[in-house]
Amino acid sequence: MTDTRTRDSRPVVLLEEIFPGDTNAYGTAFGGRIMALMDRAAGLAASRYAHGHFVTASLNALDFRAPVRQGEIAEVGAQVVYTSAHTCGIKVTVCAVDKAAWSRRPCCEGTLFMVRMGPDGAILPVPPLAPRTASGRADWDEARAIHRQMIRRRHGAGRHGRCSSTD
Ligand SMILES: CC(C)(COP(=O)(O)OP(=O)(O)OC[C@H]1O[C@@H](n2cnc3c(N)ncnc32)[C@H](O)[C@@H]1OP(=O)(O)O)[C@@H](O)C(=O)NCCC(=O)NCCS
Repeated sequence: MTDTRTRDSRPVVLLEEIFPGDTNAYGTAFGGRIMALMDRAAGLAASRYAHGHFVTASLNALDFRAPVRQGEIAEVGAQVVYTSAHTCGIKVTVCAVDKAAWSRRPCCEGTLFMVRMGPDGAILPVPPLAPRTASGRADWDEARAIHRQMIRRRHGAGRHGRCSSTD
């Protein structure tokens, strides 16, 4: 019998009001604040899907198309759309929600890759995702292509990359 308890790939949705401490001098949310919310939502989606602990390995290119303003709500949706042996690909979308009209404005989206890790730091397997709809398959294909690109980039940078130094 299939164990469906560990394969809940429904989207996770975080709602976070943007306060003055979250914004720049123009009253719009810092990019880093939005990225932190995306990371948190992606981690929750991966964790609910696989019932495990995940670390972020990478995030694809991110375009901020519209700001989230102070007093608005950042609505962050995250869904596991792809898996490989040890990695979940999570598609994350961010919308600004205006509290007066409760209307939504798309702000940015990205795909994060998270690797499942045990308490001892060992990398663990992820249950395979089997997309059942045409859009699910399209998301899977897109995330797989991005994952391959991320791995190529990582190998290009060397296993541990480089640190800047004045030494
Ligand atoms: C991500 C991490 C676990 C990869 O470990 P590693 O031993 O170097 O990687 P491996 O080459 O053995 O690959 C392990 C898995 O990670 C995936 N992976 C590694 N780098 C990746 C990247 N840049 N993007 C997406 N997936 C990546 C691989 O695809 C592989 O999964 P797979 O078997 O499903 O294909 C490790 O680099 C790490 O712990 N990084 C720090 C994570 C962290 O602290 N994140 C918080 C933000 S700083």
